[in-house]
Amino acid sequence: MTDLGLYGVLNENMMKETLSVGDLKIDGSLCIRCQRCVKICLAEIFYKEGGRIRTKNESACIFCGHCVAICPKDAIIHPAFPSSRVHSFAISDLPSPEQLMLLLKSRRSNRAFSGKEIPEAFLQKVLEAAAAAPTAQNSRDVHFVLVRDPEVLKAVTEYTLASFMKVVRLLDNRFMRLLAGRKLADVYELIPKFKGMSRRFHAGEGDMILRGAKAVLFIYSSEKSRFGAADCNLAYQNASLMAESLGVAQFYTGFVLAALERDRKGRLNAMLGLKDVKIHAGMALAMPEIRFEKYVDRCGCN
Ligand SMILES: Cc1cc2nc3c(=O)[nH]c(=O)nc-3n(C[C@H](O)[C@H](O)[C@H](O)COP(=O)(O)O)c2cc1C
Repeated sequence: MTDLGLYGVLNENMMKETLSVGDLKIDGSLCIRCQRCVKICLAEIFYKEGGRIRTKNESACIFCGHCVAICPKDAIIHPAFPSSRVHSFAISDLPSPEQLMLLLKSRRSNRAFSGKEIPEAFLQKVLEAAAAAPTAQNSRDVHFVLVRDPEVLKAVTEYTLASFMKVVRLLDNRFMRLLAGRKLADVYELIPKFKGMSRRFHAGEGDMILRGAKAVLFIYSSEKSRFGAADCNLAYQNASLMAESLGVAQFYTGFVLAALERDRKGRLNAMLGLKDVKIHAGMALAMPEIRFEKYVDRCGCN
């Protein structure tokens, strides 16, 4: 496989396994019959009978861990959640609404990248935050590839620009302008921009696609995933908020994803060593040269 600098697949797909009768146990000596598990379980596996909490239909378990996390007495023994995977926290330790709102409002796409390396520990935290996002039906079918090899990053930009220039060559002639100029007015507006980006890149005057990013995090799910786009973009948002909190600059690689949409031959996937998956989100990352110390109330251009 191409050396991408760092390759990370953090999510374990628990759904490959199903719970069988007997896998899930309730320690009767600890259980206080509070029925929190009964109330919280999406799959309705827990029920009260004869003064005891019992389980049924265990194979419906989606491995969300709600039962284990809600039990005040650690009475639920779930094979996927040994004590090493269960972490107590004080609700008072959560960020305050004001702190969270400040993070949400101050998070920006910062493209003023410096040439500094992103500390390894920061990248790991960004990945950990991404992997903590929820997924539909708790499929955990969200995976990551972190590209840091400068040659691969350059190839990603070349790939994106080549895709745009193919569109330009197709549309930028009198015949096509007459035929599709009105219908594709928004695409035609972009043609000078695409030409400019390509010219600047090939003249060594700057990369307007990745803007000198030190890493790109691609987030993907299996091709068949019904909620892949939502799952991956929720992971993106977690990652971007963690990046902001760490002081790492990031932006969404929408141009690359637009090229990917037109890529019938799976060239980007092949470049990244990926097969039978769909990339739904991408994040360019670098240490910032400058940082925002104000936020503005948002408004839009149309
Ligand atoms: C779906 C999506 C695609 C984007 N694509 C790009 C991109 O290709 N390049 C870029 O520099 N910024 C990209 N952005 C960043 C937006 O331009 C940015 O979010 C917007 O300008 C507002 O700035 P803010 O993120 O600081 O609030 C994208 C954002 C989103 C949500």
